[in-house]
Amino acid sequence: MWHRTRLTERLNLDWPIFSAPMTPFATPSLAAGVSNAGGIGGLGMTSFTPEECERRIAGFRQLSGRSLNANLLLWGPTGNLDGQYSEMRSRIADYYREEGLGDAPEPATNGSSVNPELLEVLMATKPEVVSFHWGLPDQDIVQALKGNGSMIVACATTVAEARQLEALGADAIIAQGLEAGGHRGTFTDVDATMQAGLFALLPQIVNACSVPIIAAGGVSNGRSIAAAMVLGAEAVWMGTAFLRSPEALVPDAHRLALRTAGDASTIVTRLVSGKPARVLPNKLTRELADVDGGPMPFPAQLSLVKPLEASEHGDLGQLYAGQGAALTRELPAEDLMAQLTEDADAHLRAMLA
Ligand SMILES: Cc1cc2nc3c(=O)[nH]c(=O)nc-3n(C[C@H](O)[C@H](O)[C@H](O)COP(=O)(O)O)c2cc1C
Repeated sequence: MWHRTRLTERLNLDWPIFSAPMTPFATPSLAAGVSNAGGIGGLGMTSFTPEECERRIAGFRQLSGRSLNANLLLWGPTGNLDGQYSEMRSRIADYYREEGLGDAPEPATNGSSVNPELLEVLMATKPEVVSFHWGLPDQDIVQALKGNGSMIVACATTVAEARQLEALGADAIIAQGLEAGGHRGTFTDVDATMQAGLFALLPQIVNACSVPIIAAGGVSNGRSIAAAMVLGAEAVWMGTAFLRSPEALVPDAHRLALRTAGDASTIVTRLVSGKPARVLPNKLTRELADVDGGPMPFPAQLSLVKPLEASEHGDLGQLYAGQGAALTRELPAEDLMAQLTEDADAHLRAMLA
């Protein structure tokens, strides 16, 4: 059966489908819907306190007795930004004034880490998967989580990154094609124009690694799930497709932009966060494109842009979306899972018949 793989066996899944953690859009109820339908739901931990992370995981466990993927973003500090990016800061400050948000705050310059309190939460709650975007944490953390029974999953955008993650102990690797919505997962600063689409990237990473490979980027319907499995994936990892589910915490302006997206609607830009991310363009990405000195590094740019999401006039949010947005549907997670699995199954059976 096409849907029995090393990942479905290890994680006790009916279907090799991960919903992407999509912090903070993916909620415990979205993740539980996916897991209850036989896939595995993802839940972001970044930007939440350890207590909030514990509550998010407990919320999931109340709604589902099945497997969970808890996710963390890893990044370094920006260094001192004093006196730099003055043009970007002043243009963003104009938006704060126009939107009645007061003075723009000082940008955040901190790095992220798996701090001891968060590690304690992860050790106590034992998510079946702990996944990382932008590399892996120190070996002692990787080994502690593995020893505690969590499977370690990390994201690669090139064969070299995949090899590196496998050598560092990843139990499975996400091959993230250029089609993917949200942040590019590169942790070696590969230029986005040189990153491959999933069709080219996936079989190369499958050939290069011996751990199971999970396909991400533009996987949006049953047909693309089938294609990814034929190309050697042992699961798919879908973000944008679940962004339209009612359980996702997505602002109305973002939902509308997703609903009206076409095949050539998205761009990769550093303007929304400081790291390259695929989004639907809006007033923010259009108007800030010509700013001298460009965007601040992550998370400084994000920390100034994020509050604008709540702006009364809209169009200043971060409209993350993948290239498959036009194929997505507005369905509750469990219904979407039923449709995706039925369609993928039908395509693969027809091909094998
Ligand atoms: C709205 C949104 C938020 C995301 N947030 C995260 C995140 O918190 N952690 C993570 O590992 N990946 C995140 N991603 C990237 C996804 O894990 C994944 O690579 C991507 O969604 C796959 O492409 P697709 O959107 O075309 O399905 C996000 C993607 C989107 C669309």
